[in-house]
Amino acid sequence: MKEIKEIIEKFDHDSSQLISVLHDTQAKYNYLPKDALELISEKMKIPMLDIYQVATFYKAFSLKPRGKYHIRVCLGTACHVRSSQRILESVERELEIKSGETSKDGLFSLESVNCLGCCALGPVMIVNKNYYGNMSPGKINKILKKYK
Ligand code: FES
Repeated sequence: MKEIKEIIEKFDHDSSQLISVLHDTQAKYNYLPKDALELISEKMKIPMLDIYQVATFYKAFSLKPRGKYHIRVCLGTACHVRSSQRILESVERELEIKSGETSKDGLFSLESVNCLGCCALGPVMIVNKNYYGNMSPGKINKILKKYK
């Protein structure tokens, strides 16, 4: 919890900096641990309910541990019309998890999103910060192998 205290101090206990504090906490642990949120609540004098509202509103935050590699498959309209659902299903089959889950080895988390802001490249998938455009089910195995 020393790291959380440092993050809170970095933002001067300023409640208006909650998103930044949560962002740094998420970056540190790859999710938002309950203990960390309680400490943030206490030190920044923000009710837990308010913290949960922010933490659950933004998809960037997770209350559950995420895998080392966070895969997001876009199901937004531009990607959907280019069969992105097949991409998601192929990743699910390959990793033996459903969207919203983390693989048993803790390596991969999978989720679907509504737009990744690069519609012209659809269908699009991201692994952490790496974008893969013009995806097809046949490309998935090769891409995932790079992270195993
Ligand atoms: S709809 Fe997929 S990137 Fe925009």
